[in-house]
Amino acid sequence: MGVSDWVQEDPINRYDLPERLERPATEPLARAVPPLGPPLAQGPKVDPVALAQTAASAADSLKALCDAIAAFDHCELKKGARSTVFADGNPAARVMILGEAPGREEDQEGLPFVGPAGQLLDRMFEAIGLSRQSADPASALYITNVLPWRPPQNRDPLPEEIAMMRPFVERHIALINPDIIVAFGNIPCLALLNEKGIMRLRGTWTQALNKPVLPMTHPTYLLRTPAAKREAWADLLALKSRLQEIRN
Ligand code: URA
Repeated sequence: MGVSDWVQEDPINRYDLPERLERPATEPLARAVPPLGPPLAQGPKVDPVALAQTAASAADSLKALCDAIAAFDHCELKKGARSTVFADGNPAARVMILGEAPGREEDQEGLPFVGPAGQLLDRMFEAIGLSRQSADPASALYITNVLPWRPPQNRDPLPEEIAMMRPFVERHIALINPDIIVAFGNIPCLALLNEKGIMRLRGTWTQALNKPVLPMTHPTYLLRTPAAKREAWADLLALKSRLQEIRN
């Protein structure tokens, strides 16, 4: 272009500014900014599991437990959820179903298992004579989840989220005192049995909190994998005959 020099309006004496001119352009800005003062004081560290244990063990009724969960502010999931989804069904039921966490419909309605997975759940259990609408404890269901808040985009709950809600689940089971717990999928198996691998666990009776537990595949999985309904039916029949044994 024929340009050999660029002359600016204000002259710069380059001999007066050696530091500024020699500092490499990539030097982080933070190092050039002097600290503003002492670091901000941090609040006392809380142990959410210990707080959950204290809150859960103080709850002496379902209403008190529901209120304690709604007041528990240490789980990030609560911030993104519309509802605290506690439970549905008959608290006197002999069978308690433990699911994972609310989905979109459950978050909207404030009740567990009301979306497509819940409709399948209702049909499955009606086939062995059990319903969440039943007033008779012998044919009733009580339904809840490990997590009362919907995880964003239905992602899997994190281990620390499960750990901090576990005391509430334990208390919930103690207050309902069912004869049998059905654990739907990996998350309740992790919370109750500290085990994962629902395809291995399903259909095999086990124990947690001194209660018989039957792990089953989650209805959401059954909606995606209709071929797995055959095994789920076998699990339902096992549940039915165990209930008959208990009654006799
Ligand atoms: N899936 C669950 O595990 N729980 C619900 O309440 C709904 C879907």
